[in-house]
Amino acid sequence: MTGLFISGTDTGVGKTIVSSGLTRYARRLGINCVGIKPVETGCPVKNGLLEPVDGRILWEAGDKVLSLDECAPYRFTMPAAPFRAAAMEDSSLSVADIVEHILTVSEDADLVIVEGAGGLMTPVEDKKLMIDIINDLKFPTLLVGRLALGTINHSILSIEALQNRQIPVKGLALCSSQKMSGPEEEYTPGDLARIVHGIPIVVLPFLEDDDQANSEKIADAMSMNWPKSFMDSLLGM
Ligand SMILES: Nc1ncnc2c1ncn2[C@@H]1O[C@H](COP(=O)(O)OP(=O)(O)OP(=O)(O)O)[C@@H](O)[C@H]1O
Ligand SMILES: [Mg+2]
Repeated sequence: MTGLFISGTDTGVGKTIVSSGLTRYARRLGINCVGIKPVETGCPVKNGLLEPVDGRILWEAGDKVLSLDECAPYRFTMPAAPFRAAAMEDSSLSVADIVEHILTVSEDADLVIVEGAGGLMTPVEDKKLMIDIINDLKFPTLLVGRLALGTINHSILSIEALQNRQIPVKGLALCSSQKMSGPEEEYTPGDLARIVHGIPIVVLPFLEDDDQANSEKIADAMSMNWPKSFMDSLLGM
């Protein structure tokens, strides 16, 4: 089993969009790929249960090979970092348990794509952070950022943190979230590439609202805009 961790420069940058598109893309190639969102906070209540919005998207992109509970095991109501959201419910999370869950449920898969919560330094357990989960999983990561003002700073800080822990960085995916692009869209990838060496930088173009939740459309956009060799490397091929 191969693993890929989708980490973010921040919350709300496009991790779910990228994770679901990649899961779909891999499955189209006949790879038994599953997507997991191990910790999700800010879950609404639906039919008396906490609804894992991201987890459900990944579950569906993975053709429901796993159960929804396997794809989204830890869910909390409060829209906060996992540590705080759990504490608000007099509960706590264990990085070791999260890692064990991911490795166990994905045993029979060819590829597991794991979406983080928040950014790399988001608290999960006491003094343990999201980046500790990646470190313990020993998965390479694809960093996702928004193609907007501020992303150069956030991206470089995140890449340095990953490299300081010897976590392989497979690439940086910048998600365009504005229909009308500004100058930052034009210059940011190139300006980042001048500073960050050896890490492929790709752009996911703007997707209309309906397409953002459609893994087929995201996979189409990826295969049209991201080099095949880059996609292969993400899938561990
Ligand atoms: N390619 C894109 N086209 C259009 N909008 C985008 C694109 N990528 C990201 N967005 C915008 O960013 C928002 C957040 O995306 P997404 O839910 O994937 O982020 P996330 O990093 O998974 O967030 P969270 O931290 O809550 O898990 C989307 O709802 C959308 O508005
Ligand atoms: Mg998400």
